[in-house]
Amino acid sequence: MSASFPASRLSRLRKSPAMRQMFAENSLRVSDFIVPLFVVPGSGVKKEISSMPGQYHFSLDMLSEEVKRLGDQGLNNLLLFGIPENKDPEGMVACDQNGIVQQAARTLRENCPSAVLIADLCFCEYTTHGYCGVMDGDRLDHDVTRKNLGTQAISLARSGVDIVAPSGMIDGMVGQIRSDLDAEKFQDVAIMSYSVKYASAWYGPFRDAVESAPDSGDRKSHQMNAANSREALREAKQDIAEGADCLIVKPALSFLDIIYSLKQETDLPVIAYNVSGEYSMIKAAGKLGLADEKELAIETLTSIKRSGADLIISYFASQLASKFL
Ligand code: PBG
Ligand code: ZN
Repeated sequence: MSASFPASRLSRLRKSPAMRQMFAENSLRVSDFIVPLFVVPGSGVKKEISSMPGQYHFSLDMLSEEVKRLGDQGLNNLLLFGIPENKDPEGMVACDQNGIVQQAARTLRENCPSAVLIADLCFCEYTTHGYCGVMDGDRLDHDVTRKNLGTQAISLARSGVDIVAPSGMIDGMVGQIRSDLDAEKFQDVAIMSYSVKYASAWYGPFRDAVESAPDSGDRKSHQMNAANSREALREAKQDIAEGADCLIVKPALSFLDIIYSLKQETDLPVIAYNVSGEYSMIKAAGKLGLADEKELAIETLTSIKRSGADLIISYFASQLASKFL
């Protein structure tokens, strides 16, 4: 038992910046972060995304330069998203060997060999209707989509990615991708599963950035209900049984309890996705002069780390890198 007041004065250890740092239980490091990047067709493009100030669309020729700049900051973990030239109802351009992310992966593999390349695996950026796969009437067909995800994974593995990150919450996706990758001798390509992805309004700015908002309806029939936490554990355990190497919880801030419970209940690395709406909300608050943007960002990212995340996918990484260890 520790002493009580007045022998105990908890403010003693908070006296100076040096002492506060000495007794900090958690801290952010550059190596904690995964940086999302948006790749578009064309050349000479570095265009700010209007819904996400400070984030850009990059064409292939501009991408390596950006990735080298991130590398100089110590940021080596990259999550690639592509916006294709043409979309189709099944989104099969996502599996094209000359697709936008496949090209980006090959370019980066060559120009930036030390970067860890992670490819988001889904079809919503590639379908004309904006749903995450092949539709059967107004329902997503999980069985056809699951098989297509295996094909998308193989094509990205061939292009040199280290990790695939299936983000559609399609039933059985991890097992399918694992066996398809292994059958093609890509047994060393890891799967970072979006195991616990909630149907969330916090994805708004991202859907604008990649033009993937569904024509009508929503993703509530495959993404999780924000009311549920025990179901999150079932999702995580199922992905583990199917061969996932690490688990994503997404979004982060409304789901810190889920991050905490996955950290307690599983022994895989837990990754939190600090999503577009969480980013843009803080940017907007800063712009309106309601609060200090950088301090808000550091506080929220620290709360994600404190809740148990081993890694954080965040749009803030580069802007704040000088403030991390
Ligand atoms: C694609 C995907 C989404 C995000 C990452 N991968 C969008 C969605 O499900 O609508 C969201 C990322 C963000 O909001 O920052 N399935
Ligand atoms: Zn999707």
